[in-house]
This record gives sequence, C-alpha cells and structure tokens, in this order.
Amino acid sequence: MRDWGRFFERGIPGLASDSDLGRRLRYLLLRHVIGPTFLPPPSYTIRRARHVYGESFRRCVEFLKYSSIEGDFAEFGTLYGYTARRFAKLIRQFKMGAHLWLFDSFQGLPEITEEADLSSYEVSLNKVWFRGQMRVVPGIPELIRRDLCCLLPRDCIHVVEGYFEDTLRTHMPPGKLALVHIDCDLYSSARYVLDALIQHEKFQDGTVLLMDDFNCNRANPAMGERLALAEAFEGHGRYSYSHWFSYGWHGQCFFVHEQDIPSVEKHLPTDGACSS
Ligand SMILES: C[S@@+](CC[C@H](N)C(=O)[O-])C[C@H]1O[C@@H](n2cnc3c(N)ncnc32)[C@H](O)[C@@H]1O
Repeated sequence: MRDWGRFFERGIPGLASDSDLGRRLRYLLLRHVIGPTFLPPPSYTIRRARHVYGESFRRCVEFLKYSSIEGDFAEFGTLYGYTARRFAKLIRQFKMGAHLWLFDSFQGLPEITEEADLSSYEVSLNKVWFRGQMRVVPGIPELIRRDLCCLLPRDCIHVVEGYFEDTLRTHMPPGKLALVHIDCDLYSSARYVLDALIQHEKFQDGTVLLMDDFNCNRANPAMGERLALAEAFEGHGRYSYSHWFSYGWHGQCFFVHEQDIPSVEKHLPTDGACSS
C-alpha cells in the first residue's frame, strides 16, 4: 500500500501531472490495473487518509488484541475497499484470526424514503447523497476479494453484495463481532444494520463500533448516523455504548457494553480527537 500510495501521489513521470486528466489517469490505472483497494474515496488524498485511518484503526485493533476480545470484523459500506484493506492488514499484522465481512450494494446508495434522511442536510440541501451515488463498475467486488487475498486467507474474506436489508437476512456473520465499521452515510442504512446486529446479539462486551459519518449533516443529532445510534440502543436492556475517540472531522468510535451504564458515561467527548 505504502509504495503504491507514494507512486500514485507523485504521479507518473511523463504521463500524468497534477491536472485533472493526470489525476483521472492515475485513478484508472491504480483502481483497475493494480487494484481498487489502494485508493481512498475521492474526498481524501492517500496521505490524508493514511493519517486519519492509520492511527485510529490501529488503536482499535490494539485494544482488541490486548483485551483478548475475539470475533470477526464487519464493515457496512465498502465501496472500493480502501478501509477494508486497512482492516485486513491489521488483522494479519496482529494475528487476530478474524474473518472480514464486507457488506455493500456496490450499486450505490439505496432509494431514500425515510423522513430523517429526506430532510437531512446532505440529502435535501447539499444534495450529495442520492439514490445510486457511489455505484461502482461491475467486477469490483471480485477485484476487492483478489486484492485482500494477498493479506488474508480467501475463506476469511466475505464480500457480500446487495442491500443490507436483503443480505443481512441470509449472510449474518455466525459468531460475535469484535469490530463493526458503519460507513453507509444514511440514517436508514445505519439504523437497519444496528437493529439487525442488536437483534441477533452480535455485539459483545468491548466490541469496537466505528461510525464514519457521525458528524455528517452538521452533526445534527436528529439526522444520519447520530440518530441511528441513539435510537437503536435507546432503552436496550442488554447493550449500551460509550464514546471512545474521534477521527478525522467525521468519525466517532464507541465501545459497546453488555450491560446498561450510567447515562453520564455516554456523553461526548471522553478523550478528544485522534489524528485529525
Ligand atoms: C462512503 S462509502 C464507503 C467507503 C468505504 N468504507 C471506504 O472508505 O473505502 C458508502 C457505501 O455505503 C453503501 N451503502 C449505503 N447504504 C447501503 C445499503 N442500505 N445497503 C448496501 N450498501 C449501502 C454504498 O453503496 C457505498 O458504497
């Protein structure tokens, strides 16, 4: 990753420059010839993405390792597999023995019907979230699998294609989860996933829950992943959560607990931001 990242950011001498065309050529080359998982989504440069995700994801896996928390990793929102690749590398590096479950429609965002989404800033005002946004070209799921097989055994990588509402019925990971990464933008998508994981008792004491779009929608608690998290755990007898740290401008990391905790514990922030 590191070498290809440097190569990509410097450009290809004589072929690509900092022009739009040069950038597009580099994206095409890296994504389709070398592999889709090497590049972060367009909102980040490789260097910035490495800075934001590198320390924060590593921190999570160190916590799991040294707390002896076992279980699989599940990601909801994979796109081209950039964050998935980071998790695969850490699973290997820390000898976690975990399976990596990657859920995405690969058709982009679903139809937006929930009022909490329709009235949200990103949908109604900024118009950056809409049906089909982030659709990838055919063949990407297989290329993601191929990329990650260099890091983990093939049978430990599960790329599950389809809308969560369909795939979670048939492809729920069988055991408890050690880490859950929710990066699917919409309230409705995040809420569906959290409800399903709670209902199937997939969390355990100390599961790390990363919510990548927590501060989208101007961090308004009545919208997006913020609302989804609050509602899904509201008054839940078995599980509760507390805040751990922030990453980038957008992400928040939480611990899930297997018993209710005093509500003062739930308040943000606890230890401030990391790597932003
Ligand atoms: C921001 S992208 C994920 C980026 C990825 N984690 C990365 O950093 O490389 C959000 C993804 O969520 C997916 N998504 C959102 N809602 C979904 C749903 N209900 N079912 C399946 N996929 C969904 C979209 O298809 C999109 O690929």
